[in-house]
Amino acid sequence: MNAETLDKQRPRRLRSYPRIRKLVRETLVNPGQLVAPIFVRPGHGIVEPITSMPGINRYSVDTVGDYVAWLADVGIEAILLFGIPAVKDETGSGAYDSEGVVPKAISAIRDSVSSTAIIADVCLCEYTSHGHCGMIKDGAVDNDSTLPLLSKAAVAYAQAGADIVAPSAMMDHQVRAIREMLDTSGNEHTAIMGYSAKYASSFYGPFRYAAGSAPSFGDRKGYQMSPPNRREAMREIALDIQEGADIIMVKPALAYLDVISEARRRFDVPLAAYSVSGEYSMLKAAGSMGFVNENEAMQELLLSIKRAGADIIITYHAAEAARTFIDQR
Ligand code: PBG
Repeated sequence: MNAETLDKQRPRRLRSYPRIRKLVRETLVNPGQLVAPIFVRPGHGIVEPITSMPGINRYSVDTVGDYVAWLADVGIEAILLFGIPAVKDETGSGAYDSEGVVPKAISAIRDSVSSTAIIADVCLCEYTSHGHCGMIKDGAVDNDSTLPLLSKAAVAYAQAGADIVAPSAMMDHQVRAIREMLDTSGNEHTAIMGYSAKYASSFYGPFRYAAGSAPSFGDRKGYQMSPPNRREAMREIALDIQEGADIIMVKPALAYLDVISEARRRFDVPLAAYSVSGEYSMLKAAGSMGFVNENEAMQELLLSIKRAGADIIITYHAAEAARTFIDQR
């Protein structure tokens, strides 16, 4: 470009006024693609604040319907359910009890709001006494004996009315096992969102406090992915798609934007990103200290996840984000 042509280039023209900036924006966070995670627990009349996640509560089965209806009113019509059982045991039986807290919550939600998409997380860690995501054999987490239990849980949630089941245990072949059992039990229409590239992350800390699911010995590094690895994430995602995942996921989001972006480039299935508890609580803490403007920082962070290429964003900021981004259309 010669000097004269260069002189005519004035990028600031398109930044002069809100009406112009709005016209040329490249990315918008669509509230219809935001998912709110919800914790359900036994009991009656309970809305219990979670201290590690300001603004997020645990709901009992009889209060969760109203909360989901409120979410729909503010523009969030997709939820991801996590259950905290009355008792935890060696084999996490609360996870696949068809009368357990998650199936009951799904029915209650279906009774109060029909239009909301219900996604149910499938894992054992909230239900096991040892806090690991699978069965323990000889002191280690055993892969293959865990698969039927995850599959049973997925069927219980599908029967109760979940639209999508989301296996997060990071067991090899979990998507295939679940797909098979869903199909043979007449639930071939239930979709699977695989937590395909789920990293062993310290950003899950506030969630583990909320669900009482921290491992009682060792850590999850033997099954969740190593943070340094991006190519391995692509192999995990390719396997999940082969096994039958309808939607793939990268988790966490912020520290893994490169993984999201690479996954978007390589795969054509819908891509979800999970902005996890630590991302939420970190921003809440900084906001409450006055270090950053929480709402503005939230917008920037969600935009970064969209820009990286995620279709769906799972975020504890969903309700606030819906109100904010609706105004920006
Ligand atoms: C269950 C599960 C976890 C999260 C989602 N599903 C916890 C973990 O793997 O320890 C974390 C979500 C969050 O931090 O918001 N396996």
